[in-house]
Amino acid sequence: MSGEDATDGNLEARLREQAYFRPPSKFVGQANATDPAIYDEVGDFPEGFDRYAELLDWDEQWDETFDGSNPPFFEWFVGGQLNASYNCVDRHLDERKNQTALLWEGEDGEQRNITYQDLYREVNEFASALRSVGVEEDDVVTVHLPMVPALPITMLACARIGAPHSVVFAGFSASALAERVDSADSDYVVTIDGYYRRGEFLDHIEKTDEAMAELDDEPEVLVWNRHDEPRADVADSYTSVDDLLADHRRDRVEPVSRDAEDPLFLMYTSGTTGKPKGCQHRTGGYLAYTAATSKYVLDIEPEDTYWCAADIGWITGHSYIVYGPLALGTTSVMYEGTPDHPHKGRIWEIAEKYDVDIFHTSPTAVRMFMKWGPEYPDEYDFDFRHMTTVGEPIQPEAWLWYYKHIGDEDAVIVDTWWQTETGGHLITNLPAIEDMKPGSAGKACPGIEPAIVDDEGDPVESKSGQAGNLIIQRPWPSMLQTVYGNDERFIDTYWRQFSDVDSDDWRDWNYKAGDGAVQSSDGYYRILGRLDDVMNVAGHRLGTMELESAVAEVEDVAEAAVAARQHDEKGEVPDVYVVLRDGVEVSDDARERIVSAVEEEIGKFARPSSVVFVTDLPKTRSGKIMRRLLEDISNDETLGDTTTLRDPSVPEQIREQVQSD
Ligand code: WTA
Repeated sequence: MSGEDATDGNLEARLREQAYFRPPSKFVGQANATDPAIYDEVGDFPEGFDRYAELLDWDEQWDETFDGSNPPFFEWFVGGQLNASYNCVDRHLDERKNQTALLWEGEDGEQRNITYQDLYREVNEFASALRSVGVEEDDVVTVHLPMVPALPITMLACARIGAPHSVVFAGFSASALAERVDSADSDYVVTIDGYYRRGEFLDHIEKTDEAMAELDDEPEVLVWNRHDEPRADVADSYTSVDDLLADHRRDRVEPVSRDAEDPLFLMYTSGTTGKPKGCQHRTGGYLAYTAATSKYVLDIEPEDTYWCAADIGWITGHSYIVYGPLALGTTSVMYEGTPDHPHKGRIWEIAEKYDVDIFHTSPTAVRMFMKWGPEYPDEYDFDFRHMTTVGEPIQPEAWLWYYKHIGDEDAVIVDTWWQTETGGHLITNLPAIEDMKPGSAGKACPGIEPAIVDDEGDPVESKSGQAGNLIIQRPWPSMLQTVYGNDERFIDTYWRQFSDVDSDDWRDWNYKAGDGAVQSSDGYYRILGRLDDVMNVAGHRLGTMELESAVAEVEDVAEAAVAARQHDEKGEVPDVYVVLRDGVEVSDDARERIVSAVEEEIGKFARPSSVVFVTDLPKTRSGKIMRRLLEDISNDETLGDTTTLRDPSVPEQIREQVQSD
């Protein structure tokens, strides 16, 4: 690996020559997991997972590691009791109360250094404030906050009093917020007046106002303030958190002992229908698994400065900014803004300023950094020991660029495959034990049993390099408990296709990931992407049906279909194909209304990349829209089979139109 520079010209040659990259010996020398025996120890099902639970402090020891008697409603650490907030905050006070827990950097360079003692105080005060407005154990609290300290403080305060939080990513629109409040029967919404994005102060309360207008039963709204001076134009019916906290200074709230199986939070995610699903996560198994993977996969030590540059509004931030790292008592960095504001070296400037040891980002961000060029990271003096990617497949070229220009060929990289539903990493390498292989997520995590099957559920020969559906054959502690309020949907979405759903034996139940994968002869898995109608736009998960229902609500639209187009930087982007109602002319105005409908129903991050007006959509004789053919058109690929279409000439017509546009 030493010697000549990796200019773009020889990247490919270098990848061809070198399939594997060994972890640097300085990394291996200090890593948390160095003995391959961990695979056997944790893999001793189910008790092997006890060593994960032992990383936590329990109020009551569990009687049984795993109860599989009522599949697929599996239970973990049954009979155990604990509190997540206690585990992430209180238990660190003896040893490190003056150590920074959260290092927050505002977009404009503002900084807050929150020690474990500060966090303890703030979480207690807000927990007390929540109680004072009526929040009780098991009430779902919807949290619509951006990347400010109020977000983890709110989450931990909820956890302290046993109220499951449901965090809705701040970029989601008012309608998306209203839908999630309604779906979770949530009587409380915690929000903020605004936050900074690319130098602009975004009005966030506006979204709350609009969401409240859409709801029949208006929840109690608590508003944090981004500045010391609260805004004057906030509705009287909302409660100012600053005012509320003034009455709860120095309050202490005893952490509520929760059953291991009590829900810790809901996280809504996109699926194959128009309605997002509330993935419900348990307290004990989730916290045990995220703490353990933070320790063994991310290699976090309490002394580290760790930075996961994701948003807490998605699962990555829940598991690997808040719960896992804080359970281990480390220092976790949070950044409010975007990587290119006020300049394209912002990330590396922060890395240098805080002397970050472990860095975590998405392939989309890596591709963006790569496009901007190495001069930005080169300008700053930072030294990562460990780097992560998550959320999408990373192309070997982007991997190599990350390895060289960000990691200085001296940091390990883990490519972590997992999902909102899985709670924590399931496929990735333990970095001191397995070599890195660009483009492959790697091996199954200890105790996890993936397999690849064909559409009928028959096994594809293992290590054969053949593609198929990725399934997980054995339960694991951080798997979702159910889809909130909808057990049937839980079974239908994740289990029915590859399980014997009549069986009482958990061994007959296989979790369907919805991703395609291949396993090569070395046992490494490469993830191919979603096989269902879910897209991955810049690492944000979006359902094509959600987009389609947003577009279908536009007055002049008769029909719409969404196709995923491959995009160099964002991975995928949505193309919308629209049939207008009879007599309606194609116009810029119609296009505008379609784009704004998506922004209003979902959020700006879901904005269609292009809107194509067509006279018909490719449909089967039974009327089913063949999105796959639209995808072929969007990606300029050979058209798939058109013989089952009602009118086989439709795709060709659309293609001609797209090409002439
Ligand atoms: C994709 C994000 C390839 C995959 C944690 C999965 C990945 C979906 C990887 C879940 C990876 C996640 N390589 N693809 N390392 N990690 N994915 O729920 O398609 O936002 O099903 O969770 O992201 O997205 P979600």
